[in-house]
Amino acid sequence: MPCNPHRPAPSSPASALLFIAPDEDATSRLGAALAGVLESGTVIALVGNLGAGKTRLVRAVAEAAGVDRREIRSPTFVLVHEYEGRWPIYHFDTYRLHDVNEFEQLGAAEYFASAAVCIVEWADRVTQLLPTDHFRIEIKTTGDTSREFRFSATGPKSQRLVTRLAEALGSTRP
Ligand SMILES: Nc1ncnc2c1ncn2[C@@H]1O[C@H](COP(=O)(O)OP(=O)(O)O)[C@@H](O)[C@H]1O
Ligand SMILES: [Mg+2]
Repeated sequence: MPCNPHRPAPSSPASALLFIAPDEDATSRLGAALAGVLESGTVIALVGNLGAGKTRLVRAVAEAAGVDRREIRSPTFVLVHEYEGRWPIYHFDTYRLHDVNEFEQLGAAEYFASAAVCIVEWADRVTQLLPTDHFRIEIKTTGDTSREFRFSATGPKSQRLVTRLAEALGSTRP
């Protein structure tokens, strides 16, 4: 199997999970696994450099949730896109925000409190506005087509998600 979910190094928090994607197909499979375990009302915080694969992962999740792939694009010039899949998905890109107040004025709290799945690119720019319990995904570029995804939980709901994702990926419980 080309993708190898495994426990992180012992120094990482107990709730974390690592996934190595050697290529984009593996990222698509990861997105499908994630879509299979997501609950409405989840907030996903995506962290990673430009080109890491944040938008690519959102596309994989949304497609697996039944969204037409032509609808899914980078929201860099629009702060939020909405997709209708198995649940509504709000896809945010905070890259071009002037400041965190702009995100607040957009109604971030209302979006996060809704029954949708909210996915935030560049989430580290708006950390103080994220709900306490959110599912964090850090993406690192490790080669032309290889990426490392690190999942961590910040509360009980996101912890359940980490556990279910680990099971879906065939890993041991985190
Ligand atoms: N394994 C992989 N997973 C995700 N993207 C990959 C992978 N391998 C190559 N890529 C490429 O990396 C780029 C990621 O772009 P994008 O998702 O827009 O990044 P970001 O939103 O993090 O700035 C795309 O061009 C994609 O084709
Ligand atoms: Mg992007």
